[in-house]
Amino acid sequence: MSNLDLINKTILFVKGKLANAEGGHDWFHIQRVYKNALLIAKGEVCDETVIKLSALLHDIADSKFYDGDETVGPKVAREFLEGEGVSEAVISHVIQIIDNVSFKGGKTEKTFSSIELNIVQDADRLDAIGAIGIARAFNYGGFKNRVMYDPQIAPNLHMSKEEYKNSQAPTINHFYEKLLLLKDKMNTETGKAIAKERHHYMQGFLAQFYSEWDGES
Ligand code: ADP
Ligand code: NI
Repeated sequence: MSNLDLINKTILFVKGKLANAEGGHDWFHIQRVYKNALLIAKGEVCDETVIKLSALLHDIADSKFYDGDETVGPKVAREFLEGEGVSEAVISHVIQIIDNVSFKGGKTEKTFSSIELNIVQDADRLDAIGAIGIARAFNYGGFKNRVMYDPQIAPNLHMSKEEYKNSQAPTINHFYEKLLLLKDKMNTETGKAIAKERHHYMQGFLAQFYSEWDGES
């Protein structure tokens, strides 16, 4: 099978799997990460097939929706790629990327590194910041029935992963607990440059939000 066929089949597979996914993790998130990854890849020496497959498969089964089971995504991806006759070298690289790509609050150690992982991780992080990142955060907060903002509840930078998942903290707190930290975690030069602009946009949003909250608009 040609590479193009493989990528097209992967796109169809992922679209099918994510047909009922919640808004922040739907096919469009995957499509944006895919595009971001290819944009970043232009500035790097890397394996584009591995990047495309990993970007497409990176959220195939989000552990948040499988009782925190982080083995489901890699398993589903491996079975699909094996079924398509992809080489073991490519499959294991893609699986390592899927395993490592998620931002885990910086608490778990990275167990693997490659330029392809760095690129896909940057691409995924970019989709969590800027205008799209703001929209996704409020979408997720609404899905979890969280309030937008409560001036009485301060952000908590020291929650465990479990506490964070179960927290009913306002969505605005998520900016301080995660989104505003991402700019300094970018791996690639292209990723850093885009993140800087998106970060600035989020800061402007927050300033405007507080002034409207206080009736100053
Ligand atoms: P991904 O798997 O794409 O790296 P996550 O699964 O951590 O990201 O989150 C998906 C989206 O939901 C992101 O845009 C993220 O910012 C948002 N999100 C995650 N947790 C929260 C939260 N506690 N409050 C608001 N938004 C959140
Ligand atoms: Ni993602």
